[in-house]
Amino acid sequence: MGKRTIEVLRGITLEIAAGESVFLCGASGAGKSTLLYTLAGLERPESGEVFYEKQSLYAQGEDALAKLRNTAFGFVFQAYHLLPELTALENVMLPAMIGGKPDRAAAEASLVRVGLGDRLQHLPGELSGGEQQRAAIARALINNPRVIFADEPTGNLDSKTGGTIVELLLELVKSEGKTLIVVTHDTQLAKRGDRMMEIHDGRIA
Ligand SMILES: Nc1ncnc2c1ncn2[C@@H]1O[C@H](COP(=O)(O)OP(=O)(O)O)[C@@H](O)[C@H]1O
Ligand SMILES: [Mg+2]
Repeated sequence: MGKRTIEVLRGITLEIAAGESVFLCGASGAGKSTLLYTLAGLERPESGEVFYEKQSLYAQGEDALAKLRNTAFGFVFQAYHLLPELTALENVMLPAMIGGKPDRAAAEASLVRVGLGDRLQHLPGELSGGEQQRAAIARALINNPRVIFADEPTGNLDSKTGGTIVELLLELVKSEGKTLIVVTHDTQLAKRGDRMMEIHDGRIA
């Protein structure tokens, strides 16, 4: 940050097993998003390494890393990040189009799985917050990722809707043996996973 170096993560060592669902909790500014993005191949650490299936994420080139992110990882964000001019179906098809295989049937199936089978042609603005987050989850699933990363996926939702979103994520990953890593500051929600980790000042508390 300008001339000042801000140390965000301070010696974090952790291992997450395939099929595990892990929740990262902690106060605002603790470093949760930075840790999640670092794990997800979106933020290169100045020191340290991240391994996915024994392969160092950041030792490989940007192209290989981008390909890995597009095929093995799925992301869900607090603010949904759906493109407003595209329908739910088109939004879900997008990652597969980038991967070179736009698959309408798979996008439809993905929306059906999250309970939006009757909203395929709706624009994000015509969907509620919970429905938009469901569409974002369907998009995260389209390339059949092994790992799903979610940064405060319930942060813009009321607690009941947020609870159903977390249940949906847990059910989707459990039924297919996927790995789930979720950032939340809701410790009640975090208890529903296999493991909860508290991040405090860039360290695991
Ligand atoms: N791009 C950035 N430049 C400078 N500081 C940043 C940047 N991103 C995050 N930080 C700082 O890193 C710390 C952790 O941020 P973050 O990982 O977003 O925390 P959390 O998600 O737990 O709220 C905060 O002090 C924040 O101000
Ligand atoms: Mg954050």
